[in-house]
Amino acid sequence: METLNENMAGKRGQMIVVGGAKGGVGKTILSVNLSVALAKRSVKVCIIDGDFQFGDVNLAMDIQETFTIKDAIEAIGTLDVINMSSYLTQHNSGVNVLVAPDRPEYADMITDENLTKITSLLLDIYDYVIVDTGVGFHENSLPFIERADKLLLVTNLEMATIKNTKRMKETLDMLGYSNKIEYIINRSTMESVLNAENVAEILGTENPYLVPNDFKYVSQSFNMGTPIVSGRATNVVAKAIFKMAEQIASKRGPQRIKQKKRLFGIR
Ligand SMILES: Nc1ncnc2c1ncn2[C@@H]1O[C@H](COP(=O)(O)OP(=O)(O)OP(=O)(O)O)[C@@H](O)[C@H]1O
Ligand SMILES: [Mg+2]
Repeated sequence: METLNENMAGKRGQMIVVGGAKGGVGKTILSVNLSVALAKRSVKVCIIDGDFQFGDVNLAMDIQETFTIKDAIEAIGTLDVINMSSYLTQHNSGVNVLVAPDRPEYADMITDENLTKITSLLLDIYDYVIVDTGVGFHENSLPFIERADKLLLVTNLEMATIKNTKRMKETLDMLGYSNKIEYIINRSTMESVLNAENVAEILGTENPYLVPNDFKYVSQSFNMGTPIVSGRATNVVAKAIFKMAEQIASKRGPQRIKQKKRLFGIR
């Protein structure tokens, strides 16, 4: 109830976009599990599957949707804060999912204007709007990156991924989005020429989120559609994602207080 009241008081939710410069780095696993971990903190969370062509958030969460974003767009003129949620599918964790279209060709009907309306309604309703995106600056990812409060860039320890991540960062810097970027070094304990510390140095970041490597556990969870943070945090990957959710939530608290203080003219 507390969160409903917060939103009724007119507080805007936080939009967290999970992106990456290479396919298969863990964007979907991390967005889904971050959403579920945040929902365990009694806040209202939704996840948009922003990989409009080949989205698989519904598989990762084992949900059977009635509607997808395509249906929401077909009803765009009538969408409001009351009926928007009916286009989302609720997962048993409490996370609400705006599922990607079921056919790749429908991605073309998703315009910038449609996304502006949908994201702004969702930010009125939810405390956190998490977006799982396709690779890089896909034409469908950019509108989300532009609107993000926070952009979590996922990399791993592989040379090609690090090179692309650095390039993506440089472009984001040029676009003026540097202050939105935070890094997740996924599979950070993987055997590689470079370790997580080297990667952080190359990317010029001091405090990346580190998520360890456990392929058997993570891929099993993905294939079964059971998020790893659904149960108790006994696994190292689950522990790291809970920690990330805690850090994200605690960073947000003071920000909100600051905003309030500014409203009342207190420095
Ligand atoms: N921390 C981890 N440890 C081990 N394996 C992982 C980890 N995170 C992700 N994986 C594995 O990496 C693979 C790709 O993950 P995922 O589908 O989340 O990546 P993606 O970036 O969303 O891919 P795409 O670009 O195709 O959307 C999966 O098989 C998953 O099990
Ligand atoms: Mg994915």
